[in-house]
Amino acid sequence: MKLVTIIGARPQIIKAAALSRAIRNNYADQIQEVIVHTGQHYDDNMSQVFFDELHIPRPDYNLHVGSASHGVQTARMTEGIEDILFKEQPDYIVLYGDTNSTLAGAVAAAKIHVPIVHIEAGLRSFNKAMPEEINRIVCDHCSTLLFTPTKAGLKNLKREGFTIDECGPSTPSTSSGTEGSGTAKPTIDNPKVYHCGDIMYDNSLHFAAIAEEKTDIIQRLELTAKPYILATIHRDTNTDHPERLSAIFRSIIKLSEECQVVLPLHPRTAKLLKTNLDETLQKHIFSCQNIKLIPPVSFLEMITLERHALLVMTDSGGVQKEAYFFKKPCIILRPETEWVEIVETGNAVLADADQGRIMQAWQHFKVNPPTVFPEIFGDGHAAEFMLEKMLLANTNC
Ligand code: UD1
Ligand code: UDP
Repeated sequence: MKLVTIIGARPQIIKAAALSRAIRNNYADQIQEVIVHTGQHYDDNMSQVFFDELHIPRPDYNLHVGSASHGVQTARMTEGIEDILFKEQPDYIVLYGDTNSTLAGAVAAAKIHVPIVHIEAGLRSFNKAMPEEINRIVCDHCSTLLFTPTKAGLKNLKREGFTIDECGPSTPSTSSGTEGSGTAKPTIDNPKVYHCGDIMYDNSLHFAAIAEEKTDIIQRLELTAKPYILATIHRDTNTDHPERLSAIFRSIIKLSEECQVVLPLHPRTAKLLKTNLDETLQKHIFSCQNIKLIPPVSFLEMITLERHALLVMTDSGGVQKEAYFFKKPCIILRPETEWVEIVETGNAVLADADQGRIMQAWQHFKVNPPTVFPEIFGDGHAAEFMLEKMLLANTNC
């Protein structure tokens, strides 16, 4: 079986590590993977560092699209991906998540009848102002195999008309889904949906021990003595709106009176800080001893920072989940989340970009740190499960 895998943005590169690892370890004689990097993210610390550190095979192609408006970026990627699909003639294209690289892969593949595997299917924010919501809906509805990490994802797909066989497959015990109608080959018009757990949980389990050995970030940032909050901000709804970005940074200043705050800055945020915050606020942030603004860190460094943090504050999808994996409370800097389970279990709070709600959440978690984190993201073997299902679907022809 030949797969063409599309990656482009930081979280997709990291997710790809799990699938490539599973192919290398268990399916090398059955599956060939061709990796295409769209070039959506290109700084070394947003891209190359992950290939080096997580042993992801070097991409077979790099489209070098770089940054541009949604339309231009997606169009460039679509054109490049279409050429590669014609040339490579894969059995499946593998798409991760909900970025413009995902959308481009979906449009390119669906139009020329290359079946799509969507990893992280079914997630919804129910907010179509988010570019990611458009990307994920289009991708799901063009897909042949949909792998959803959560029960909420399964429910969302059912609501949108996908057929779900409640009996589920026989393997593995934590996964459930559909084997479709008998042995019919799944197609774009007869797709199959699987609930399989989260591929990032696979990665977090695999790399946690390695990270502890291989990184010295805690010592380097002098974080051993005092507790710290780990924060990340990169959503356009926060970075591009001065009043929202200011509210978040005013909250960080307030929190820094009680606790250190470590903030690896996404390049989008690094740029917009300078235009969207007033000078006084900027000066305060850059001069505050208790706020550590640092460049983006590697994945091993990031999960080490997460594991040692007192609390995580973020608008990132991936970081929200990793806070949960490492049993840390999380303040979500968004009005809604696709990862509803972590809020329902009381381990995360939606605070939006609202200083009052952020401080309230901080006070709440200080007094009531969560202790129970039910296993809602699978068993750490989502990648193997997905590859088995791809092989099964591919032999059903
Ligand atoms: C993208 C995804 C978002 C995902 C995020 C992960 C879309 C629509 N958005 O958002 O879903 O959560 O990646 O990080 O696909 N930049 C650099 N260097 C880089 C990459 C970006 O300086 O290597 C700067 C550029 O100024 C660029 C801006 O960051 O314009 C935004 O990058 P872009 O990829 O368009 O969106 P993200 O905000 O990263
Ligand atoms: N991450 C990282 N270094 C950083 C910030 C994040 O390695 O400085 C990792 C993080 O551990 C997670 C992923 O990047 O696995 C999340 O990516 P991001 O927040 O950019 O995007 P999202 O998940 O919101 O799409």
